[in-house]
Amino acid sequence: MPLVLGVETSCDETSVAVVNERREILHHAIYSQIEEHKKYKGVVPEIAARAHLVRLKELLNNVSVPLSEVDAFAATAGPGLIGGLNVGVMAAKSLSYTLNKPFLAINHLEGHALTPRLTNNVAFPYLLLLVSGGHSQIVWVKGLGQYQVLGSTIDDAVGEAFDKTAKVLGLPHPGGVALEKLAKTGDAAQYALPRPLCSKGDLRFSFSGLKTAVLKITEKPDFTPDRKPHLAAAFQETAANVLAYKIKQAMLLLKELQEAPTSLVIAGGVGANQTVREKLQQVAADYGWQFVAPPPKLCTDNGAMIAWAGVERLMAGKVSELSFKPTPRWPLSECVL
Ligand code: KG4
Ligand code: ZN
Repeated sequence: MPLVLGVETSCDETSVAVVNERREILHHAIYSQIEEHKKYKGVVPEIAARAHLVRLKELLNNVSVPLSEVDAFAATAGPGLIGGLNVGVMAAKSLSYTLNKPFLAINHLEGHALTPRLTNNVAFPYLLLLVSGGHSQIVWVKGLGQYQVLGSTIDDAVGEAFDKTAKVLGLPHPGGVALEKLAKTGDAAQYALPRPLCSKGDLRFSFSGLKTAVLKITEKPDFTPDRKPHLAAAFQETAANVLAYKIKQAMLLLKELQEAPTSLVIAGGVGANQTVREKLQQVAADYGWQFVAPPPKLCTDNGAMIAWAGVERLMAGKVSELSFKPTPRWPLSECVL
């Protein structure tokens, strides 16, 4: 039974997991570098790379499954910050070379995209909303290595918009979680914010205007700190409504093409947001589709999703060469089998 160890180091989470073909997560450790980057209010690539090096050594020393039992070693090889990618890929390659087991170079976005198969055994094909700090994409997932991007952002990713809005509101990094917490005490109806590109059939996203609208409101003289929860709630509500509207357009398009997957899945860090999950759940229910959202811990960056993508690739017989070079840019559309 394939047992794969996965390493994730593409941004500011260092994570190692061991997953098997039966979708069992036998080991999972995530070290979040929040403290290292806090005072810079964002991720500093050089600091991230050094922290990955230190933490990954610790995490690999503490894997509860004997490494000799692992059948293949997988690592995120892109997209992401090159310093971190190099650290994770080098570690996985060294283990696979030393233990004479295959190496698997995994696309980070594919890791997110396949997570609902790990957590809920979702069958291909399915419609995926991939929403993270660097990406906002609607993807029609036809099979392993068959990802048709139906729409993506023309400016900011939605996670980036959450983070920038959080910063404007004076919230600590990482912004998405803090903004969701603040929004809980606010009334979204107090502000009407723009919903860019929300016209019928348009599957592109644009979030920079939404972020700018929030900034302009905070710059007005009558904006007092007690207004912050309302503005946070209005931002979150608007972003979630935009995501739900776009997904509805994609569902209608697929229906028109007579290509009808009936599962809608969400993946990526913003997928941890409760309001976003509820809105998508509603759209899916309106059209009689199944909605699948992994637990929040597996929406944000983690090693289990990389190990699982490794299991899927190993079972398909698609291992990588040890000469595979990590790459900061690796779109999902170029992630073929
Ligand atoms: O997938 P992820 O962990 O890393 C990337 O691949 O980018 O996503 C991180 C993004 C950040 O922008 C973060 O603010 C956002 O996901 N995020 C959230 C929440 N948790 C994480 N956004 C809104 N609500 C959340 N609860
Ligand atoms: Zn991610």
